[in-house]
Amino acid sequence: MLASKVDRANIEKMVRTFYAMLIKDDTVGVFFIKALGDDLKNDKWNEHYKILDNFWLMLMTGEKCYTGDPFLPHVLIGQLYEETFERWLELFNKHVHQHYVPKIAKKFNKKAEILAKKFMQGLEIGEGLEGKNWASYKL
Ligand code: HEM
Repeated sequence: MLASKVDRANIEKMVRTFYAMLIKDDTVGVFFIKALGDDLKNDKWNEHYKILDNFWLMLMTGEKCYTGDPFLPHVLIGQLYEETFERWLELFNKHVHQHYVPKIAKKFNKKAEILAKKFMQGLEIGEGLEGKNWASYKL
């Protein structure tokens, strides 16, 4: 059944199943395997899941549980292209619609799209949007 509200339990499920699917993708999988390995149960992945749980919970509920810089890791993981972001967004879009009712899934997607554009601008890929600092992100 599709979730009609966002809570930590359904975010944890959405995040873990998203990356299990993502690492199998030809376009984006390689970046995650290179950074975190291909064993989704290792310590690096567990750490990544916890960060992403807090990140999405903060974006979707306003709970102040994420204090990192989401942009920085993307500078360090190798050459990303507009196509890499487009593929990530396509998979994320499909995935959140499998977990949440359309109204919530669309909200996830909107936030992901804004961030992807910000990241692309920071990485000087494609068109991007105004503003570069995480603090200035209007989510
Ligand atoms: C081109 C598509 C993307 C790729 C290949 C990618 C890849 C990665 C990788 C490999 C990491 C882990 C780095 C590490 O811990 O060593 C990471 C971290 C992260 N990514 Fe992405 N990512 C992409 C797009 C996005 C988008 C669109 C978002 C947001 C909507 C996002 C949010 C995050 C966050 C929040 C972290 C953790 C930041 C922290 O450590 O505080 N990523 N990403």
